[in-house]
Amino acid sequence: MEKYQVLIFLFIALVAPTSSNSNVFGGHCSKQDDDVDACLLKSFNNLIEHLKSGAPELDIEQSDSIVIDELSIALGGGPDGYKATFKDINASGVDDVTITNVRSDLDTYQFQLTLSIPHISTTARYRSSGILLLVRASGGGDYWGEYENVKAKVYFRGEPYERKGKTYLKLKQLKLDFSVKDIKMGVENLENSNSVLQAALNLFINTNAHELLKEMKPQLKRDLAEKMSGFLNRILEKIPYDDWIVD
Ligand SMILES: *[C@@H]1O[C@H](CO)[C@@H](O)[C@H](O)[C@H]1NC(C)=O
Repeated sequence: MEKYQVLIFLFIALVAPTSSNSNVFGGHCSKQDDDVDACLLKSFNNLIEHLKSGAPELDIEQSDSIVIDELSIALGGGPDGYKATFKDINASGVDDVTITNVRSDLDTYQFQLTLSIPHISTTARYRSSGILLLVRASGGGDYWGEYENVKAKVYFRGEPYERKGKTYLKLKQLKLDFSVKDIKMGVENLENSNSVLQAALNLFINTNAHELLKEMKPQLKRDLAEKMSGFLNRILEKIPYDDWIVD
């Protein structure tokens, strides 16, 4: 459960309070309101503020980071192509998220949120094999990354159903994409290495930071979408849709 804690900040925003804490949104939004998206934007950001210190009534603990078990990248093919696997990826700073835009189509239960996070700091353990920059870059070490100005777009579609006289949403589809304006990253504490190789690797990594992220992106998007979907499903199960949007 721990790794899902922070996804709350991104995704609780899509759901409603329980009847016992309907104040976390600062009020309902009306479907009849021409400016319902502006109302949702305000409500979701209210909710994020509420969650920052933890929300035991929603089973949400306070957390500022998100943890991803494992990611790998491969650059170049062949037996000596460079491959790296990152483990225990810890991204902190995600609690500083703000929702900057909401677009909804309430007739079809579709939502698109734009999220902004000013700064994410990441650490991980990595292992690599193969040849990079003409040198054998097999080994392992610590990875760090500083990501500035992260923007994400999250789309999801729900389907309503009735339970005990209330309307709930079941998640039917979720997609996400993100971009990072500036990236600084590097490796340190390398095994089986020396300072010359470490400096060369760091130069390569920083010069190619955006390409490396691009390599990781499909996996990262899949992984995050899967976690968010699982999490969102559990929340949507608990909180009726008509607790946050009224006709
Ligand atoms: C992730 O990093 C943050 C900030 O350094 C730290 O507070 C948190 O305990 C770390 N989480 C894990 C699971 O290592």
